[in-house]
Amino acid sequence: MGVSINENIIDEIKSRCNIVDIIGRAMTLKKSGSNYKGVCPFHNEKTPSFVVSESKQIYTCFGCGATGDVIEFVQRYYTLDFMGAIEKLACEHGITIESNFKKSQKKDEFYNINREAASFFYQAFTEKANPGYTYMKNRGLDSLTLKRFGIGYADGEWNSLYQHFMDKGVDPKVLLELGLISESNGRYFDKFRNRVIFPIINTNGKVIGFGGRALGDGTPKYLNSPETPVFLKKNNLYGLNLTRQDISKDNCAILVEGYMDVISLYKVGIRNVSASLGTALTENQASLLKRYTNNIVLSYDADDAGMNAALRGMDILYKEGCRVKVLHISDGKDPDDFIKKNGKQAFLDLVGQALPYADYKLSVARGKNDLNSTEARVEFLQAAVAILRTLSPIEADIYIKKVAEEMKITESAIRLEINGNNIQSTSTESHRWSQSKTLKKRESDDISMLEKNLIKLILTDSSYYDKLKPYEFAFRSDSGDTIYSGLKEIYVEDEQIDIKKLADGLDGEKNKVLSDILENVQFAGKEEQVFLDCIRTMEQRKLKLKQEELNIALSMSSEDENQENIEKIMKEIQKIQQQIRGQGGI
Ligand code: GTP
Ligand code: MN
Repeated sequence: MGVSINENIIDEIKSRCNIVDIIGRAMTLKKSGSNYKGVCPFHNEKTPSFVVSESKQIYTCFGCGATGDVIEFVQRYYTLDFMGAIEKLACEHGITIESNFKKSQKKDEFYNINREAASFFYQAFTEKANPGYTYMKNRGLDSLTLKRFGIGYADGEWNSLYQHFMDKGVDPKVLLELGLISESNGRYFDKFRNRVIFPIINTNGKVIGFGGRALGDGTPKYLNSPETPVFLKKNNLYGLNLTRQDISKDNCAILVEGYMDVISLYKVGIRNVSASLGTALTENQASLLKRYTNNIVLSYDADDAGMNAALRGMDILYKEGCRVKVLHISDGKDPDDFIKKNGKQAFLDLVGQALPYADYKLSVARGKNDLNSTEARVEFLQAAVAILRTLSPIEADIYIKKVAEEMKITESAIRLEINGNNIQSTSTESHRWSQSKTLKKRESDDISMLEKNLIKLILTDSSYYDKLKPYEFAFRSDSGDTIYSGLKEIYVEDEQIDIKKLADGLDGEKNKVLSDILENVQFAGKEEQVFLDCIRTMEQRKLKLKQEELNIALSMSSEDENQENIEKIMKEIQKIQQQIRGQGGI
C-alpha cells in the first residue's frame, strides 16, 4: 500500500511540476535551442554550463556533472531530504496525496507503539499473578482463550507504561495522541490503570486501540482508546481478526455488543462472532462483515437499549444487502451471561430460533400493542404496513399473507394500504425499497468510486464521452450528476474537455470534488481496463434495476390477477437472474 501511494505521489509531482519552472524560480535560466541554460548553482563558474531539458524533465551540468530530475534538484538546492523535497513540491502545488505517505509513516509508528503497549500489558497479565488475571479467571475464562485474544493487564501504578516507553526513548506526544497516557499540570500518567486490557486488532493484524475493563464495579466500566488516526471505531469490529475465517466458513456472523460476549462465545466454540466497538453499528462495519458473509445474526443485550440497537443495526445491515436475523436472549442480560447459565447448545438453539428481519420488526410492533381492542389492531396494522413497505416485493408478499391471516383481514386491504400510501408518503425510511426503482435518482451526495472513474475517464480522453453516454444513469450522487451535467454542456466533439471551463461552471463544493478526482483518481495507463470494468458494473446494475421493477410489478398484482400475466413476469425475472449470474454478478 505504502509503495503504490508513494509511487503515485512521485508520478504526480513529476507530472505537475515542470522542472523549468521550479529551477527557473531558483536561478536565472535562458532559452537555448530546445533547452534552457544557466550558471550552475552547485559549483563555481562564470560561463553557464548548467542545462535544463524541458522535454526530458532533467537537468545536467557539463561543468561539475550534477544531474537529476526535479525532485533531486529541489533536494540538493534547498538541502532537503527526499521526503522534504516531496513535501515542498507537493505543498507548493496543492497536491494533497503527499500527506498519505507521511501519514502512512506516522501510522506505522502508531501501530508499533500500540503493539508494544499490548505486549507490555500482556506480559503483566501472564508473567506473574495479578488481579487482572484473577478477575478473568473468575469470569470463567481459560488461559488459552485469554492468550488468543491477547488479553492484558494494566497495573494500578500511575506511570508504568509511560516509564516503559520513556526507557525506550518514545516521544510522549505520540503516547498522548494514542490515548495511552494523559497529561495534567505538566505531568504524564497512564490512562489505563488497574484494568483488564482488550487489545483491538484489525483484520491486518495491527493493534489499533484498547478497551480496558475495571476489575469489578469501578467506573467507568470500560475505558476505550479515543479515536486516533489508526483507530476509527466506525470502520472496525472487535474480534474479527480471529474470527473472520470462521465467519466465512459458517457463512454466518453473530454480532454481539460486548468484548466479553465475543470472548465467551469463542471460548465455548462458537467462533463466528464479532462485536461493534461500543457504538451503534455503522455502514462501514456492515460492509466489512459482508466481505465474509451475508448472513448476520444480531445478538444484542436483552434490555431496551439492546433491542433499539438491534433495530437500528438491522436496518443498516439490511440496506447493505445482508440477511439479518435477531436473536432474543431469553435468560440473562447478554450472550455471555446466557451461555454461562445455559451452555453452548442452548445458545445455538437461540440462534436457530432467531427471527428474520421482518418477523422481528413485526414482533416488536406487536409487542407494543395489546391486540384486543380495535384501536390497538389499527395501530399495529399501521405499523405493520410501514414495515411491509420496506421489504422487497417478494418478501412483502409473504408477510402480507402472514399479517392478513393473523389479523383476520383481507390481503387486498393491506396491499391497498401499502400501495396507496406509498405514493403520498414522504418518509424516506419507509421507501427504502421503492426508492431504487427509478433508474435516475439522486441517492446521496456521496460520490461513488464508479462515478469518479467515469468522470476521470472522460476528462482523460473525451472519446469516452460517447461510449459512456448510455450509462448516464450511473451518476446518482449530487456531485457526480452536477459535474457530469457540466461536462455535457461544454463537451465538443473530438476535442478534449476544457477542465478550467468545467471548473468555472461549478460551485466551491463541487470544485473540491472535481479536484479530488483530478488529483486522486489515477489509472496509470490502464484507462481501457477501468472503462471495461465500469461498463460491466453498470450493466449489472441495469439488470438489477430491471429485476427490481419486475418485482414491484409482481407485488402489485393481487391474488385474483390474471395467472398468465404473473407467470410472464416471473419468467422475465428468472431470465434476468440468469443474465446477472452469467455476468459473474451475485
Ligand atoms: P461486562 O460487563 O464485562 O460483561 O461487559 P460487556 O462486554 O457485557 O459489555 P456491555 O454490554 O456492558 O457493553 C458493551 C460494550 O459497550 C462494551 O464492550 C464496551 O465497548 C462498551 N462500554 C460498556 N460500558 C462502557 C463504558 O462505561 N464506557 C465506554 N466508553 N464504553 C463502554
Ligand atoms: Mn456482559
